[in-house]
Amino acid sequence: MSSQSLLFDNHGRPLSYLRLAVTDRCNLRCFYCMPEEGVRYLPKSQVLSFEEMERLVRVLVGMGINKVRITGGEPFVRQDLMAFLRKLRAIEGLDEIALTTNGVLTAPHLPELNDLGIRSINLSLDTLDRQRFLKITRRDEFDRVRQTLDALLEQNFDVKINAVVMEGQNTDDLHPLTELTRQYPLSVRFIEEMPFNGEGSHYPKLIWNYRRILDELQQFYPDLQKLPDPAFSTAAIYQVPGYAGTVGIIAAFSRTFCGTCNRIRLTAQGELKTCLYQHGGLQIRDQMRNGLSDEQLAGLFLSAFKNRPFDGFEAERLRPDAVHESMTTIGG
Ligand code: GTP
Ligand code: 5AD
Ligand code: SF4
Repeated sequence: MSSQSLLFDNHGRPLSYLRLAVTDRCNLRCFYCMPEEGVRYLPKSQVLSFEEMERLVRVLVGMGINKVRITGGEPFVRQDLMAFLRKLRAIEGLDEIALTTNGVLTAPHLPELNDLGIRSINLSLDTLDRQRFLKITRRDEFDRVRQTLDALLEQNFDVKINAVVMEGQNTDDLHPLTELTRQYPLSVRFIEEMPFNGEGSHYPKLIWNYRRILDELQQFYPDLQKLPDPAFSTAAIYQVPGYAGTVGIIAAFSRTFCGTCNRIRLTAQGELKTCLYQHGGLQIRDQMRNGLSDEQLAGLFLSAFKNRPFDGFEAERLRPDAVHESMTTIGG
């Protein structure tokens, strides 16, 4: 099958975008992603090797996937990430490689990412205030992340800032983060908090849903304009008239964009998830290690694509338990 062929799920949605978590480890401890202590990482033997990941990406690209976003944990805590990215770059039919990072270790790698044509970098940054950053991430790394942001902008990367909006933590940042878009051609995306934090939901009811976020933005910017959303976008895009960049709102918990979801996920331990809210997934690692051929792997993938939940709510209903796993085990 050529990479030009279209791959569809059982609901007629095209699948073209793989989110690949290269590690479950992280050098931060964000409130919305992990508990402060007691995080249990996977033993190395359970994590896919880069060779295994490369093989699975090749198989998926052969089936119709043309974009891979590298996630984690934090991708740059895994050794030899750059060598892996060079290998991925050589896969014919893989048109786009993008990366989501917390920015702590990222800056020194930017020139090489640029040389590899990896231009789309999403930076997780929930606040511009050093103290708040420390409270949210439980690590004093604000300065390095800010330096990465400056370097990304200087080197003209296509930058999106991901800010999870949390009651009592960073709601005062909506305005200053949006103000970054006055001068810089970046996209700041405000994300509804999901209960993927290792513990379960922080709230009886989500307060900062997309409507509340939009209301708040409109208080500061009454003439905020709605822009057309790119195809398959998770974010609803807005702009303050005259500003260089845009603001997005990602209704990750309200799940307003499932109807056009083109994304599948491969976790660091080799589970294929066809929805973020799915419990577990297709465990492909052990089958691969037991000697399955590429064709057999493709067959397993296809059966998962043809059994995809209709949306994130159906995926949640099918779970045996409430959502509580850490985002670091999924990749976001
Ligand atoms: P682009 O490739 O730039 O469109 O990236 P993205 O927005 O899909 O990815 P990113 O890694 O920056 O994630 C931003 C936020 O969107 C994170 O909180 C993700 O968990 C959330 N997100 C991404 N895909 C999905 C999805 O399929 N469902 C839900 N509910 N949330 C998602
Ligand atoms: N809710 C919403 N977004 C989250 N992310 C991590 N955990 C959560 C959560 N519980 C976001 C991070 C990162 C992206 C991949 O996922 O901000 O940028
Ligand atoms: Fe790390 Fe990302 Fe989780 Fe924060 S959200 S703890 S940066 S994996």
